[in-house]
Amino acid sequence: MGDKQVACNTSSEWKPELKYDFDPISSDDEIVTVDLGGTPIQCLKNGDALQPLVQMARVVPDYRKHIPSIRNMEMDDDDVIICAFAKSGTHWLWEITSMLGSGKADYHGKEKNSTMLELIPAEVLRSTPKPRIYNTHFTPQGLPMHVFDRKCKILFLQRNPKDVLVSYLPYLQGHKLIDSEIKWDEFICKYMELEVESSLLNWFYYTIQWFEFLKEGHGNIYCLAYEDLKDDPVREITKLAKFLEVGENSDLFKDIAEKCSFQNLKQAALSKIDTFAINNKEAAKKFTNFTYRKGEVGDWKNYFTVAVNEKFDALYAKKMKGIDFKYRYSL
Ligand code: A3P
Repeated sequence: MGDKQVACNTSSEWKPELKYDFDPISSDDEIVTVDLGGTPIQCLKNGDALQPLVQMARVVPDYRKHIPSIRNMEMDDDDVIICAFAKSGTHWLWEITSMLGSGKADYHGKEKNSTMLELIPAEVLRSTPKPRIYNTHFTPQGLPMHVFDRKCKILFLQRNPKDVLVSYLPYLQGHKLIDSEIKWDEFICKYMELEVESSLLNWFYYTIQWFEFLKEGHGNIYCLAYEDLKDDPVREITKLAKFLEVGENSDLFKDIAEKCSFQNLKQAALSKIDTFAINNKEAAKKFTNFTYRKGEVGDWKNYFTVAVNEKFDALYAKKMKGIDFKYRYSL
């Protein structure tokens, strides 16, 4: 195991298994401090990928080597990458896509993070059996370069930002990136001041990067919305199957929708915590519980006050100028 400089800013409870070496921080490294309430988080910046310098960061490879190796990773024509900002329904779409790829409404034997570009070394990702359904929260600049000279397919999943942010706070706290006592009101105010260009943390930055990329007209990208999947999963699975060219099979699509309902998927996820990228059952169970928290459209109405909502809408109008995509905030 490499250098021990990376301090854990939350020493209580579970101590993560430090799987990967982490080279000493040098003067060439860019370090940014992110303040989302409570103890500010120090992060190593590599492009727009941030690696938080808390002990949790050691459950992922050192980004200074990992990011270039993912950029140079080989891709096959039949590989698929799911791209989504965190908390947009990545687990849901990954399981649906895995079922479509295998042609069976059987849960994938492993947890979604087992094919996540941020977490898994390139050589391990390449050795996973086909169909390979990778997933990532990276912006286009973080994707393997071969995505663009192979025929592989990209699924770009979006969710309305208000529900994303409500879902995001327990996720950040669960990953010990924000102190557990930080309350929603403080978090959302800090979040609205966030300027750092980060694929993982900054929904506005991430989404603008993707829209600019989509405008360039790259082929083989299919856009989906969480709200549409929730509204009519069979319809959306049918459309997705067409894009993936896996053939028409309405019975299978209905079975997949049912197997991937919120309750069923949560139950299935709890039964595969042994395959979690982190090697700790209790932690994996906790992660699963906040990953499958509520699964609804419009929960933001229980959190955003009128004043915060107005401020958020004004910020959205300013930051997302020129982007005419309409998010659905209720069904
Ligand atoms: P909530 O926190 O609002 O419940 P991601 O997989 O990108 O981390 O996204 C997690 C969000 O997707 C969580 O939102 C989770 O409940 C929701 N989700 C997961 N599976 C779902 C399903 N089958 N149906 C609806 N929502 C689901």
